[in-house]
Amino acid sequence: MLGALTEQPADKILALMQAFRADPREDKIDLGVGVYKDAKGHTPIMRAVKAAEQQWWQDETTKSYVALAGDPGFTEAMRNLLLGDAVAADTVAAAATPGGTGAVRLAFELARMANPGLRVWVSDPTWPNHVSILKYLGIDTQTYRYFDDATCGVDFDGMMADLAAIRPGDLVLLHGCCHNPTGANLKMAEWQAVIDLLNRTGAVPMIDIAYQGFGDGLDEDAAATRLVAAICPETLIAGSCSKNFGIYRERTGILMAVAQDTGLRAVAQDNLNSLNRLTYSFPPDHGARLVTMVLQDEALRADWQAELEEVRTGMLALRQQLADELRRLSGSDRFGFLAQHRGMFSRLGVSPEIVERLRADHGIYMIGDSRMNIAGLNRETVPILARAIIDAGA
Ligand code: LMR
Repeated sequence: MLGALTEQPADKILALMQAFRADPREDKIDLGVGVYKDAKGHTPIMRAVKAAEQQWWQDETTKSYVALAGDPGFTEAMRNLLLGDAVAADTVAAAATPGGTGAVRLAFELARMANPGLRVWVSDPTWPNHVSILKYLGIDTQTYRYFDDATCGVDFDGMMADLAAIRPGDLVLLHGCCHNPTGANLKMAEWQAVIDLLNRTGAVPMIDIAYQGFGDGLDEDAAATRLVAAICPETLIAGSCSKNFGIYRERTGILMAVAQDTGLRAVAQDNLNSLNRLTYSFPPDHGARLVTMVLQDEALRADWQAELEEVRTGMLALRQQLADELRRLSGSDRFGFLAQHRGMFSRLGVSPEIVERLRADHGIYMIGDSRMNIAGLNRETVPILARAIIDAGA
């Protein structure tokens, strides 16, 4: 049996992570995988998370199962964090999942259970694992234009032209904020136009939101998700706590199905419970517990928000410094978009050859499509990167 298996294509983000680790150069710079790093290159455990963990170590009295959809306190806390009061609580079905990826995978499965002929539309480009999962599931995948290579902003006209072909029942995957891999995001008026198009055709939005709090702030980053959920008859939302709580390895995420109808909500909840059971039985609890404790405790929540804000503004400062440095070195404003992009990533918009030169000559690792993790930089490495970008011929 095992001999019938064939080798799987490497995930390019994880392959780059391995290549970086294997590079012996001491001054190498990792702008690859989307993990936050402080100025010393360390991925810290957030203060409030550590405090909650210490508390939980004392309070926890059993390791018995929680519930198929996870702890109701977690889903309530996450519903508030992501949706605020945009929709009535009794219209949201939700299940805790192992990370945001678990939520993405289950969302596709749920949509296909409802519609065996499902088509999913993804932005070109999108997080590569979206496409890999869809391919693995054998789901018809369509792309819509998203990134304008000339401006390094959103090609909104191209996006709308391609989405004109959506049909009732199609699922349209949108990044709630901090688009991965480009860092270019829709303006609110553009979100409204997308919503109008979805509602005219009867296609269903799916929001992947993995970086809430990394762009313009917790509420600002959720604004588009809230608008979609409030206006569209049905919305799927895959949320992740990996980044904004810094609990990557705990695998903490949530899938929500917003139904605008309590009857539909009940059947959606039943299917989410069933999908969890069929996939891995009960979802992990530890990370979800810490998130719930932080969000429910006033002091812990305030401290978490303060630390998240330091992370966010730190990345914004690095963006500005890089854009300024490149303006100085290139004598032009063609890299000004770096300060406009939001979140952990920016697509630099240079050729794969230049990306390879940066790696080979300077030990600077970014994804082949020139996606950079801004959090991989610090004040000292920004000028080094800027000089290398210019020297590599960008
Ligand atoms: C990324 O895009 O780098 C992150 O979401 C990490 C991952 O799993 O790919």
